Amino acid sequence: MKECGLCLAIETSCDETAAAVLAGRTCVRANVVSSQYVHARYGGVVPELAARAHAQMVVPVCRAALDQTDAGFADLDCIAATFAPGLMGALLVGLPFAKALARSLDVPFVGVNHLEGHLFALRLSFPDLTPPFLGAVLSGGHTELIVVEDWCRYHRLGGTLDDACGEAFDKVAKLLGLPYPGGARVEELASRGRPTVAFPLPVAGAGPDALDFSFSGLKTAVRYRLRDHDDEPADIAASFQHAAVEGIGRRLVAARHRTGLTAVGVSGGVAANRRLRERLAELAAEHGFRLLVPKMCYCTDNAAMIAAAGVERLARFGPSPLSLAARARAPLQTETGPAVDLPVISS
Ligand code: KG4
Ligand code: ZN
Repeated sequence: MKECGLCLAIETSCDETAAAVLAGRTCVRANVVSSQYVHARYGGVVPELAARAHAQMVVPVCRAALDQTDAGFADLDCIAATFAPGLMGALLVGLPFAKALARSLDVPFVGVNHLEGHLFALRLSFPDLTPPFLGAVLSGGHTELIVVEDWCRYHRLGGTLDDACGEAFDKVAKLLGLPYPGGARVEELASRGRPTVAFPLPVAGAGPDALDFSFSGLKTAVRYRLRDHDDEPADIAASFQHAAVEGIGRRLVAARHRTGLTAVGVSGGVAANRRLRERLAELAAEHGFRLLVPKMCYCTDNAAMIAAAGVERLARFGPSPLSLAARARAPLQTETGPAVDLPVISS
């Protein structure tokens, strides 16, 4: 398998403009993330504003990443970028920029599925991790339970039937009057509240042994609880977080037993939640699995994870075509070829 030297990766799928430089498969030389605070006043990501902010920041963020290494553009061996899933206008900033850069430097370009990036965040924190293992991507846009049969070969076990778990955190934050994005704010408020003493909320999920998730019922229960009772906001936050964490834990334990896999990796923005980390560590000890949660900086959106996935894809399947289209939705690439090239909307 051919080794890639230095890879510059670009991530612009939602509201973070990110660039990273990776040496080899797991050595992160730079990891720069510019978060867009412009959305806070609207209570959610405004696609048009996200695209404009990416257009402003993509060059400075790439320059900052290169400045943190002692490398220049001429030292790069490949360029990776997220091509899907995400906001179309946002993807259409980073993706064509990456292609143009690769073309002008005459180095390979590789397109990466954002979900695959979240799975590769695990490899950055645990370079010794070898498939097969169970992977859960818990983010603002996705809640997916996946068997990583091999790097770049996946089998989906389940996912959310409605809201993503980060989305549920964000919606509950909004109900509690907390600013967007609300996940970390809910966690902070919950740390001062009572998780079960105050009142029981339904544990998120479709049934005790199901491998699918459901969070919208839990969110609605919070809404009615707020309407009909006069609880402390901290107790509501703690009770919601408790129910969400229990729901996630249950599914991971069910999947661990169903597959027999003894390594379980959890990534995505919600994996930054400390209570979730603590609870999953307890369940790992109880049910005999190794729990892997990436460093905080690789849980939320970043480009280092895109670089890690890109380098692996490049080594296995070669470069992506420069005609690779951005796609708002795309399942995890389970095919063993380069990123699929569908003539949807060309960039
Ligand atoms: O992976 P990510 O950065 O972006 C997506 O791909 O969506 O995840 C962002 C999501 C948001 O919904 C945010 O509220 C949530 O992750 N999040 C958290 C925490 N930090 C971020 N949720 C719960 N607890 C946290 N500490
Ligand atoms: Zn993400």
